Amino acid sequence: MIKPAISLILFSLVIGLYASSDGNSSSFNTTIDCDSCPASCNCDIEGSIHCTEKGLTAIPPGLIHCERPDVIILNVSFNLIQNISVDDFNGLPNLERLFLYDNLIDDIEEYAFSDLTSLELLSLDGNRLTTLKPNVFMGLIGLKSLLLYSNSISSLPVGVFDDLISLIVLALHNNRLTSLNPQLFANLPNLQRLYLYGNGIRDLSDSPFQHLSKLTLLYFSSNNIIELTNASLAGLNGLRTLVLRTNQIRTLSHDVFIHTPSLTSLYLDSNRIRRISSDVFSPLTRLQRLVLSNNLIEVVEDRAFSELRSIIFL
Ligand SMILES: *[C@@H]1O[C@H](CO)[C@@H](O)[C@H](O)[C@H]1NC(C)=O
Ligand SMILES: *[C@@H]1O[C@H](CO)[C@@H](O)[C@H](O)[C@H]1NC(C)=O
Ligand SMILES: *[C@@H]1O[C@H](CO)[C@@H](O)[C@H](O)[C@H]1NC(C)=O
Ligand SMILES: *[C@@H]1O[C@H](CO)[C@@H](O)[C@H](O)[C@H]1NC(C)=O
Ligand SMILES: *[C@@H]1O[C@H](CO)[C@@H](O)[C@H](O)[C@H]1NC(C)=O
Repeated sequence: MIKPAISLILFSLVIGLYASSDGNSSSFNTTIDCDSCPASCNCDIEGSIHCTEKGLTAIPPGLIHCERPDVIILNVSFNLIQNISVDDFNGLPNLERLFLYDNLIDDIEEYAFSDLTSLELLSLDGNRLTTLKPNVFMGLIGLKSLLLYSNSISSLPVGVFDDLISLIVLALHNNRLTSLNPQLFANLPNLQRLYLYGNGIRDLSDSPFQHLSKLTLLYFSSNNIIELTNASLAGLNGLRTLVLRTNQIRTLSHDVFIHTPSLTSLYLDSNRIRRISSDVFSPLTRLQRLVLSNNLIEVVEDRAFSELRSIIFL
């Protein structure tokens, strides 16, 4: 936890630079006025700053080098920013929502957001991320929503989400993940909604969701799951909605749903399921909606649906 001290030193250094480089605007601009709205941005009195669609390649200097405790929302979407550095958000202690979507971001320095102790929403969707550095989200202990969808993420280091103890929504859909390490979601005790559709995940046999006991929604369509076993959904005892549409599921083991007694909606359509065994749905006494269309079903064993006391739609 030496990071705050370093920022402080850097911050003083920058102020020093400004003060001493009077009249020289070759590297830093001497005319930054921290009391006015940063160049390329619009500010409003409710604490929002919008610097969108301005062709920016970096966070505006008037944000980086100023303390702005009044700022609650910062929208820098639709620009050309490629990388985020550790000093970019130093002066925004009360920022609650940060929108960086639809840029060209492919590199984020470790600890880049660690001064944003009030941050609740971080949107990095629609960028060019292929992976993340291990400590990139360090310090975001109040973050509730993390949006990483529509990037090109193919791998994530174990531990990358470990500081996000307040996280409720994690959106990782439309990326290039092919596997999930069983420890990746180990420290997200409050996660309720997880979006993973549109990846290439093949296998859930390592019980990657085993620590997500508060999860209520798992959106997992359009992946490459072939088989579901009793380990695939282990830990999801609060899950209410499970979407597994458009995978390659051939086999449903008879005990696949023993860990998900709270399910009310189950979407298994557009898979390659051939056989429904007699007890596969029997743990799902609260199920109201079960969708099995567009499969290759040949065998439905006796009493396969007999325990579905709550079913409304089949
Ligand atoms: C301004 O800075 C540049 C490079 O940093 C330096 O070459 C130049 O001498 C400086 N000019 C003045 C007036 O300080
Ligand atoms: C410094 O700011 C002035 C006024 O906003 C601007 O015209 C100039 O291009 C800036 N110079 C640099 C090096 O950013
Ligand atoms: C951010 O700015 C974009 C472009 O101006 C706008 O469409 C969008 O609604 C803004 N988003 C938020 C959350 O303020
Ligand atoms: C970050 O992006 C800027 C502008 O695109 C570039 O000049 C700079 O070299 C990049 N820094 C790193 C560390 O990649
Ligand atoms: C799955 O079932 C096997 C026996 O068929 C059992 O040994 C194993 O503990 C079960 N795993 C889970 C996660 O329930």
